Amino acid sequence: ITRYRLVVVGDGGVGKSAITIQYFQKLFVTNYDPTIEDSYIQHAVIDNELCILDVLDTAGQEEYSAMREQYMRSGDGFLIVYSVTDTQSFTHVVDFYNQVLRKFQKTLLLFSLRESFPVLLVANKVDLLHSRKISEEKGKETANTLGVEYIETSAKEPPLNIDAAFHKIVQIIRNH
Ligand code: GTP
Ligand code: MG
Repeated sequence: ITRYRLVVVGDGGVGKSAITIQYFQKLFVTNYDPTIEDSYIQHAVIDNELCILDVLDTAGQEEYSAMREQYMRSGDGFLIVYSVTDTQSFTHVVDFYNQVLRKFQKTLLLFSLRESFPVLLVANKVDLLHSRKISEEKGKETANTLGVEYIETSAKEPPLNIDAAFHKIVQIIRNH
């Protein structure tokens, strides 16, 4: 069985843990408890193929940023998450993308210069209509610029596109 190591990155408070816990435990965590690092593992059937999803939920808070280099090396695919209510988290998407890019260039430079990377841009908290600051158009524009796919999610009940996000990154890795 293929095991996919997925890494969830993005600023503090954007909902990385909420998305991951909604996927693995089917519940919405309402309180904010900053993550240091958590991992989750579970079987999944994606496009009729059984696989193992091994997900690393990382720390967004700056004080833990030293761990980034290490986990960047461990991923087969990356979910770069921002909150549509948090402009700064959107600005930082490019920084997270550049870290992923450096990782792939280090490991793949010997073989080829890649033009695309297994990354999915995740626009979270779309349920918060009134405090939304980053439109779908802006999100898609950044995804296009980076050459990655885009998905809008909400970890809050009723969840939106949570399973879809994890399935999509697996499809991206498979087609990569
Ligand atoms: P760090 O672990 O510090 O990097 O933060 P994080 O990205 O894991 O954020 P976390 O999942 O802990 O969520 C932060 C806060 O946002 C919590 O209070 C969540 O309940 C809330 N939240 C997360 N996702 C959503 C969402 O889709 N909609 C709404 N309304 N709130 C959300
Ligand atoms: Mg967290």
